[in-house]
Amino acid sequence: MTWWRDGVLYQIYPRSWRDANGDGVGDLEGILERLDYLAWLGVDGIWLNPTFPSPNADWGYDVADYLAVDPELGTTGQLERLVAEAGRRGIRVLLDLVPNHTSIAHPWFRERPDYYVWSERPNNWLSAFGGPAWTFDPERGRYYLHDFLPEQPDLDWWNEDVRREFDAILRHWFDRGVAGFRIDVAHRIVKDRFLRDNPPVTPDDHPHVQRLGQRQTYTANQPEVHEVFRRWRRIADAYDPPRLLLGETYVLDPHELAQFYGAGDELDLALNFSFLHEPFEAAALRQAVEATEAALPAHAWPVWHGSNHDVSRLPTRWCGGDDAKVRCALLLLLTLRGTALLYYGDEIGMRDVTVPAERRLDRVGRDRCRTPMQWDASAGAGFTSAPERAWLPIGRDPAHTVEAQRGDPGSLLELCRAAIALRRRSADLRRGAYATVPAPEGVWVFRRGERTLVALNLSSREVEVEAPAARVVLATAREREGERVQRGIRLGPWSGAVVETGERA
Ligand code: GLC
Ligand code: CA
Repeated sequence: MTWWRDGVLYQIYPRSWRDANGDGVGDLEGILERLDYLAWLGVDGIWLNPTFPSPNADWGYDVADYLAVDPELGTTGQLERLVAEAGRRGIRVLLDLVPNHTSIAHPWFRERPDYYVWSERPNNWLSAFGGPAWTFDPERGRYYLHDFLPEQPDLDWWNEDVRREFDAILRHWFDRGVAGFRIDVAHRIVKDRFLRDNPPVTPDDHPHVQRLGQRQTYTANQPEVHEVFRRWRRIADAYDPPRLLLGETYVLDPHELAQFYGAGDELDLALNFSFLHEPFEAAALRQAVEATEAALPAHAWPVWHGSNHDVSRLPTRWCGGDDAKVRCALLLLLTLRGTALLYYGDEIGMRDVTVPAERRLDRVGRDRCRTPMQWDASAGAGFTSAPERAWLPIGRDPAHTVEAQRGDPGSLLELCRAAIALRRRSADLRRGAYATVPAPEGVWVFRRGERTLVALNLSSREVEVEAPAARVVLATAREREGERVQRGIRLGPWSGAVVETGERA
C-alpha cells in the first residue's frame, strides 16, 4: 500500500514558515530546523509551495527555471538535505509543479514561442484573476494566452516538445528523492485546440464558476489533459516508491473530479474544492462528502483540506474564529476516509491576519492567509529574528502559537496531534469504509469501518446521538477520552467525539 493513503500531509508556504537567516523571508534552512516539530506532530509528508526561481508576480507560481531553487529560499543542496533529513524522520517531501504557465521571464518565452498559446484575435476567455486572458505582445504582433496574470503566459500542451520538457522536469526532481508533486491548476493545462469561446454562466452554476465569469467548457478538463496525466503516471510509477501526483483539480462536480483518477492510471489524489467551498454546516459538508464517496470509483482515494494559500483560513472562513468550531473542523478533517491535508497553522487554529493596505503584496488579495507561522508570542513569532523585515505582517495572537499550545492537553495542537496518532493506530480510521448514520439536524454522524463512529455536533444546542455501547477514543472535550457510553453519546454544543464500539480492555 502506498504511504500517502494512510497519511496526513502538511502544506508549507516556504516564505512564511521559518526564516533561518534573518532576512524576513522563510527558507529551506528554516524548514530543516523545524523538522522535529513535524515529526512530533506526526505528519507523513509535506508539500512545499513553489520553490523555483521566480520574479514573484504571483509568488512563486510564475516559474523562471523549473530545475533550480529560488535563491531567496535556499539552494538545491539544501533541498536535497531537506529531502534526506525529512526522510530520516519518515516524512516525504512534495514540490509544487506549475505546468499550466511559466513566468514571462522564463527563457522559453523568448526562445521558444512555439511553447505558448498565441492568437491573432483573442477569444472571450477570461483570466481567473479578472479581465481578458489575452495580452498583446508587440514583439510577436500577436496575443498570448494567460489564465492568470499577464506575467504568466500559458504553455501549449498540444506541443509534444512541451510535454517532453516536463517529463524531464519530473524525472529531475524524482531522481533527487522528491516524493511527488502537487500539480498547480491541473484541470486546465490543456486548452481547446480551436480556442472556442466559453459559454456564459447561468444562475444555476456554482458560485465559484460565477466568480470566474464564464463556464470553463473549453478551458478546463479537456479530454487530452488525461493523456498528460497518464504519461506522468508512467513516469512516477517507474520509481520506488512510486511518486505521488496530487492535483489541484478545481472542478466542482464530483463525477468530473473522479475523471482525474482515470482508471487508476492518472492522478493519485485530486483535491476536493466542492468540500472546501461549503459552509461549515453539517448538512452541506456531509452532502459534499457523500457525493464524493458516491462518485469516486473503488480505486480512487479522496483527499480533504479546509485551508490553503488561496482562500481564507478555515478558523476564519468556516469557524468565525471560534475555537470550539475549529476543534470540530480538525476532528472532521482527520477522521474522514481519505488523505488529510493540513495547511500550516491549521493545527494551532491560526486565523487570517489583516494586512494593512500599504503592506499588501499579492495582487488578488491572498496575503491574509499567507502570513508567518506563529511559533511563539515574541516579536518575530519564532518565525524570524528580524521582525521588522518580515515579508508579510506577523499575526499577534498569543493564544494561537505553538508555544502556547504544545503540552497543553486542552489545546488545538494537542487535539490535532492526538487525532493523527489515533489514525495511525486505528485501521478503521485509515482504511474503513465511510457510511452516514442518520442524525438530527446540525449533527453529522458517520461510521468508519466496523467499529468506529464519529459524531459531530455542529450546532449550538446539546444533543444525544444514538450509539451502541462504546468507548470514547478521541473527543474535542479531551477529558471525555476513555469514557464508556451506553446506548447514546451526549454531545455539548459544537463538539465531537470518536468512539469505538465492541469490547476492548
Ligand atoms: C493555483 C495556485 C495559486 C496561483 C494560481 C496560478 O490556483 O494555488 O496560488 O495563483 O494557481 O498559478
Ligand atoms: Ca530567510
